[in-house]
Formats: sequence, structure tokens, C-alpha cells
Amino acid sequence: MRFLITGGCGFIGSAAARVLVGAGHQVLNIDKLTYAGDLRTVAAVAGSPNYRFEKMDILDQSGIAASFRDFAPQAVFHLAAETHVDRSIDDPAKFIDTNIRGTFVMLQTALGHWNHLDAEERKSFRFIQVSTDEVYGSLGDQGLFTEATAYRPNSPYSASKAGGDHLARAWYATFGLPTIISNCSNNYGPFQNREKLIPTIIRKALAGQPIPIYGQGRNVRDWIFVDDHIAALLAVCENGQAGESYNIGGLDEISNIDLAVAICTLLDKRRPRPDGRRHADRIQFVPDRPGHDHRYAIDAAKAKRALGWKPQESLQTGLSKTVDWYLDHIDWTMDDLNSEDRLGLNPPIKSSPRE
Ligand SMILES: NC(=O)c1ccc[n+]([C@@H]2O[C@H](COP(=O)([O-])OP(=O)(O)OC[C@H]3O[C@@H](n4cnc5c(N)ncnc54)[C@H](O)[C@@H]3O)[C@@H](O)[C@H]2O)c1
Repeated sequence: MRFLITGGCGFIGSAAARVLVGAGHQVLNIDKLTYAGDLRTVAAVAGSPNYRFEKMDILDQSGIAASFRDFAPQAVFHLAAETHVDRSIDDPAKFIDTNIRGTFVMLQTALGHWNHLDAEERKSFRFIQVSTDEVYGSLGDQGLFTEATAYRPNSPYSASKAGGDHLARAWYATFGLPTIISNCSNNYGPFQNREKLIPTIIRKALAGQPIPIYGQGRNVRDWIFVDDHIAALLAVCENGQAGESYNIGGLDEISNIDLAVAICTLLDKRRPRPDGRRHADRIQFVPDRPGHDHRYAIDAAKAKRALGWKPQESLQTGLSKTVDWYLDHIDWTMDDLNSEDRLGLNPPIKSSPRE
């Protein structure tokens, strides 16, 4: 099949590109290469005859239209986005531009392309709006997000993703474009941007620096290994119903502090501290992010039932693989260690982790 992936030089998009190219599909990767995009993530497939890369902003309407004409995708995996919650607090404008207006450009261009397909091709075409569980807002200590949970986003990031999701839904309801929304929980795995929580914990521990954790570390997240997310996106594309949405999660909830300790314990075995102490002794609490959602937890029963999908990795097996990957790719892991960390708080605090 011909897949157009946006944001294919980011963490999740590049995993999708590597999997799809490896499976023999034709892939066109469109990415603007913002600070979060990195060509190293797709180096393994860059020379493949079934892979193409175009450096382009999804807001570039005429460029995107030319790519649709030229490549004639049968499915779109729309992942390009501004994704860091803290950056959305610093500078929300980019989030509105890319996540809402950019999604509009992608939908409108896909619609123009889809309108010219024959009946069979129109039926099988899919536009997957890759979204997040953060659009649902925050849970208390009990309960799970289902697909029927109302959207109540709390951060500029999640609000902008919610805006994109509403457009995707409307383009199906109004114009018939076969869009599907996937709402996925926190991903982890190889090539994640260094600002995010898990790479931050590993980097700081290896550098012998304080490991920063927001608040008291009691915020709870459901974590999914990135390859399980990609398998879910493929299942959504193959078996999902147009106009529907599917929750995707790893079914593994953990608080930030327990996650940090679990990673430190893996590092204690693989890279013990020279002074014999535990890496976890370097964990330091830092003032909380404003509007920090307490808990996200996913009910993925619909995806399991309707798509025949379930995650393959537990948090234990996935974390172990992930820590090994960061240790084996130390150039990536320790890149720019002394650069200024990005902040979502005013006054700024150095070294704040992101989920
Ligand atoms: N990371 C998670 O835990 C998670 C969970 C659920 C959903 N998602 C969604 O999955 C998608 C990918 O997330 P990620 O963690 O890989 O993000 P990321 O920040 O690692 O990568 C985003 C990519 O999009 C590109 N991009 C940004 N603005 C662009 C623009 N205007 N035009 C073209 N390309 C642009 C960047 O260069 C980068 O390569 C996002 O839509 C995000 O909302 C992420």
C-alpha cells in the first residue's frame, strides 16, 4: 500500500515509517524537521527504494497538494504535531498552527484527492488522525477513559489536539472523508525526544545529575511501548470503521515516581554507580507543572474487540528493552546534555521532565 506519513522524523512517526517500509509498503514521509524531527530516526530506511522523504511544513497547502497528486496515497497516518505540553504553555501559537490549522490543511487536501478516486478506492481510503488520551482531561483515582468520554482538554497541547480531532470527525460527518481517530496513551521506546520523561530519567542518571520529577511524582499515566502503538495504527487502518475512534493503551498504569524508580533500578543492574549508591537517590522533586493532569487511564476494550489488537509488551519487558536501547545508542541518549532544558513554568525551572 501507499502510506503518506506526516511527522515521520519524530518519535512515533519514525517508528511507523520503519515498520511500514520494512513490511514492503510504499512510504512518503512529510516532515518539517522542527527541533523534534531528526533524520537519524529514519536512517535505517532512508536508502530503501520504497521510501521517500519530503521536508515540508503541513501548513504549506500547495506543497501538500502536489505531494498528494504525485504520490496518490491510499492511507494517511497524520502524526505531525507540536507535542510537548510544557512548550505549549510557553508558546501556544505553534500548537494552534500545526495541530489545528495543519490538520485542516491535511484533511482538506486529502478530501480533494479522495473526491477524485474511483468508488472502490474511496471505500478503502483511510485518514488516521493520530491523537492522544490527553484530550479527555484528567481522571481521579478511579475510572478509565472510554471512547464515549467527553473531551475536556486542560493544556494548550491537548486542546489543540482536540481541535484537530473535531475537524477529522467533521470531515467524515460532513464530507464523507473516511477519517478515524486513535486516542493513545503515553508512548515510550527508542528515539524518543530527549525532553520527554523516560529519556530525561536515563540521561540524568547516566550523567550523574539530579533526576527531576514534578510535584510529588504522584501523577499516574498509562504507558505503551511504541511498537504496540504502531501495530494498533495498522489494525485501525485495516479493520477500523470510518468515522469511529479507538482508544489505544498499554494497560500499564504507573505513577511518575514509581516509573523513575523502576528505570533507576534497571540502570543499577546495567550501569551501577561507581560510588555504590542507587541511581534513585538522585531523584529530586521540582515544582509542579501548572494544570498538570492527575491521572490518565485507558479502556482499550473496543480496540481489542473490534480490531483484534492487544499490546505485546508489558511495562516491565518494554522498559527493559528501552533502557537497553538508550544504553546501546549513547550518542542519541547523551546528545546536547548541557543544552538549556525547555520549561513550561514561570519563573523557569531548569531540568523539568516531560511526559
Ligand atoms: N508521544 C506520545 O506519548 C503520544 C501519545 C499519543 C499520541 N501522540 C501523537 O502522536 C503524534 C506523534 O507524536 P511524537 O511523540 O512522535 O511527536 P514528536 O514531537 O517526537 O514528533 C513530531 C514530528 O512532527 C514534525 N512536525 C511538527 N510540526 C510540523 C509541521 N508543521 N509540518 C510538518 N512536520 C511537523 C516534527 O518535525 C517531528 O518530526 C502526535 O500527533 C502526538 O499528538 C503522541
